[in-house]
Amino acid sequence: MTAVDASVFEGSFWRDPYPAYERLRTQAPVREVALPRGGTTWLVTRYDDVRAAFTDPRLVKDHRATLPPELREQAPRLPGPFGSMMVLLDPPDHTRLRRLVSRAFTARRTAELRPRIEVLAAGLLDALPATEPVDLLAGYAVPLPMAVICELLGVPDTDRDAFGTWSRALVDDHDDVDQQQATTGLAEYLYALVKTKRRTPDGALVSALVEVSDAGDQLSTEEVVAMGVLLLIAGHETTANLIGNAVLGVATDAALRGHLLADPQRIPAAVEEFLRWDGPVHNAPMRFAAEDVEYSGTTIPAGSVVTLSVGAANRDPGRFDRPELLDPDRDTGGHLAFGHGIHFCLGAPLARLEGEVALRSLLDRFPGLRLAVPPEGLRHRRSVIVHALEALPVVLRP
Ligand code: HEM
Repeated sequence: MTAVDASVFEGSFWRDPYPAYERLRTQAPVREVALPRGGTTWLVTRYDDVRAAFTDPRLVKDHRATLPPELREQAPRLPGPFGSMMVLLDPPDHTRLRRLVSRAFTARRTAELRPRIEVLAAGLLDALPATEPVDLLAGYAVPLPMAVICELLGVPDTDRDAFGTWSRALVDDHDDVDQQQATTGLAEYLYALVKTKRRTPDGALVSALVEVSDAGDQLSTEEVVAMGVLLLIAGHETTANLIGNAVLGVATDAALRGHLLADPQRIPAAVEEFLRWDGPVHNAPMRFAAEDVEYSGTTIPAGSVVTLSVGAANRDPGRFDRPELLDPDRDTGGHLAFGHGIHFCLGAPLARLEGEVALRSLLDRFPGLRLAVPPEGLRHRRSVIVHALEALPVVLRP
């Protein structure tokens, strides 16, 4: 039995995880690795394995499915809203929630947000100093998706500051106690919001989730609250770092910037390539092996934690030619930045739209923007899930 690899999540990994992923993909494509905050996970890194594993019913989200049947029923669900979050559930619970939410969170609802996202982006850019260094993450990439989620859910303007405070604690704070408090605060707020929307529907998503029904089935208040918290967690930090990583790309790659300025119609294709090349989520949220599972000749024992590395898969030369090159003209079809299978990202159309509007608005207004520090001076977060900058200092109009 091979020992746990304790050398993956450390050192230069946070800045550039791709050399470690390449080593794993070629030498140990299915490997048990130590996590930075304790514990281990099996990391799957080859494109074909990751894609197949996303649709493997033996890899489950609900840890209770790994227990013997006699213990399963007594095992507690996760506390509070987490117990009803569909990203942590398997069929048939997941199927039911996903079907109901899909009826309310439609492609049309997303497309209708475009003019609002443009106004929100312009408002944020208006407020930034143009000629001195500014952190574009804190001033633009982070607040834009937050404002969009408030808009989507129907959180009134007057509540947005409080909502923003809990959400930031939830996604930024790495202290479990603060996260717990933020989750409770947010859940209580959403309970009250659901009550209000039951009395006075407004057509926004919380209202629609309250009203949606499928063959007589409806979401309970608790399920609407859980969905609200999930949309916030899943849709905020991810999109913020898509924008952050993409802006870093255009700020440092003059040819790419020229290409996009000459033909802004190519921005959506560039966003897609940013998702493949350095997507914000490099490892999908964990799964559990309900039984022994074999990939690339290695057996993952039943009961293990399993992580599907979409960052590694998207740089697999077996799937993408010269994967290390950022090439907006390449065929990005099949990239796994939004996952695959039944949990495929529900917000992918919204994330793409936000990424496009954010880049377009920024380049339109500040075509000459530049990094305010040398690239080596940038710092990255120590997160196994998101590949994210700590800050992105730029000068918008040098
Ligand atoms: C699921 C990535 C933006 C809502 C996922 C998954 C990935 C992902 C990889 C699959 C998780 C798994 O299989 O374990 C991303 C990326 C985003 C983004 C890279 C931005 C660039 C958003 C947005 C929303 C959202 C904007 C909503 C407002 C969700 C939800 C799920 C999900 C609800 C769970 C779906 C399910 O369990 O059926 N996302 N996401 N995401 N995402 Fe996203």
